[in-house]
Amino acid sequence: MLIEPRFRGFICTTAHPTGCAESVRRQIETVKARGPIPGPKRVLVLGASTGYGLASRITAAFGCGAATIGVSFERPSDGNRTATAGWYQTAAFEREACVAGLGAWSLNGDAFSDGIKRQALDLVRDQLGQVDLVVYSLASPRRQHPRTGELLNSVLKPIGRPYASKTVDFHTGVVTDVAIEPATDEEIRQTVAVMGGEDWSFWIDALLAEGLLAPGATTVAYSYIGPAVTHPVYREGTIGRAKDDLEATAQTLTQRLSPVGGRAFVSVNKALVTQASSAIPVVPLYVSLLYKIMKARGTHEGCIEQAVRLFSEHLYGGSLSLDEKGRIRVDDLELDPDVQAEVAAVWPDVDTGSIESLTDIAGYRTEFFRLFGFGFDGVDYAADVDPEVDIPSLATDPGAGD
Ligand code: NAI
Repeated sequence: MLIEPRFRGFICTTAHPTGCAESVRRQIETVKARGPIPGPKRVLVLGASTGYGLASRITAAFGCGAATIGVSFERPSDGNRTATAGWYQTAAFEREACVAGLGAWSLNGDAFSDGIKRQALDLVRDQLGQVDLVVYSLASPRRQHPRTGELLNSVLKPIGRPYASKTVDFHTGVVTDVAIEPATDEEIRQTVAVMGGEDWSFWIDALLAEGLLAPGATTVAYSYIGPAVTHPVYREGTIGRAKDDLEATAQTLTQRLSPVGGRAFVSVNKALVTQASSAIPVVPLYVSLLYKIMKARGTHEGCIEQAVRLFSEHLYGGSLSLDEKGRIRVDDLELDPDVQAEVAAVWPDVDTGSIESLTDIAGYRTEFFRLFGFGFDGVDYAADVDPEVDIPSLATDPGAGD
């Protein structure tokens, strides 16, 4: 079939298998160009199919030469509908890993469930023996609690008082005002339960209990801080409470990892266009402005450059540095005071008439469609393409774990 982008708001309901494979290939090239990283050889990535998790898996495999197990929650094609981008990217990753002689296994299903954890533990034991690194990169709007069965939803709301700002429809470039009412205590509780640290600790406890963490094993999860303009809806809002919880979990996990000499880290990463971040009010407008400023300064990075820097400098490069709260900071270039001063100076002037010239909204759009495999030079989008693509390690049971 011919596959074209079909989108509403921040959701694109189609994905292009060849374009998704091109996205993976380009990330691999970026990692290879950086040269080998003396890092882990057996890696488990939770949330491995898109965004920061995929970039981490690619860096571990093609930078460190690691065998990887990736867990994600994606939908295969049913012949009429395309698969999700994360499905195609996982398939492409496995094919590239196979060519490179790197072990790669994937599980598709709900990482919050005990069932997928069981399957992952068995896979680690059978294929890798133990793991040296666990990357926790899940981003989800909901979680079914594995012990209580409660269905929990995360919301993106301020806490304590309403928040008003401007936001953009990045497809049309129309800038409008947005007002968001504060979250209830119940909404805060549920958001922390979805995006906080509890599930991360369930994973690490389960791996520890079965002796599947190698001596000196490391685990890392991803957080965000961002600029003052988004603080009310992000860092001081419901998702920020979840990130506080995630960061506190790193401290308790480091204590629990002491018997194996391991450590748990949170890495604060840069704002980037991903499926998760495009859903957050105000953030696409900020990211468009940030991209313009950072590209002009030559300091712009994507997920893959961030992951390479995290691995090669902090986790495995011998120059680990932590902030006053014990966090790794690869958002340093974003939060450079000069960059943020420029953001603050331009922000008041951005409106529908000026957005194309003052921000990199065009770059935002390009990146958004590339998340789904569209808009890559060298991909023939007029060619007939089969939407049904196997993930090699799942080929005998494409819905494994659902
Ligand atoms: P993403 O939407 O690109 O990736 C989410 C991943 O989680 C996908 O692999 C998806 O399949 C998987 N997933 C979702 N629900 C699942 C479930 N129930 N079971 C198994 N897998 C599931 O998200 P992104 O942006 O890469 O976010 C990853 C982490 O990085 C999050 O903690 C996010 O807060 C953090 N982060 C993101 C930033 C950004 O600007 N995108 C900036 C800094 C941190």
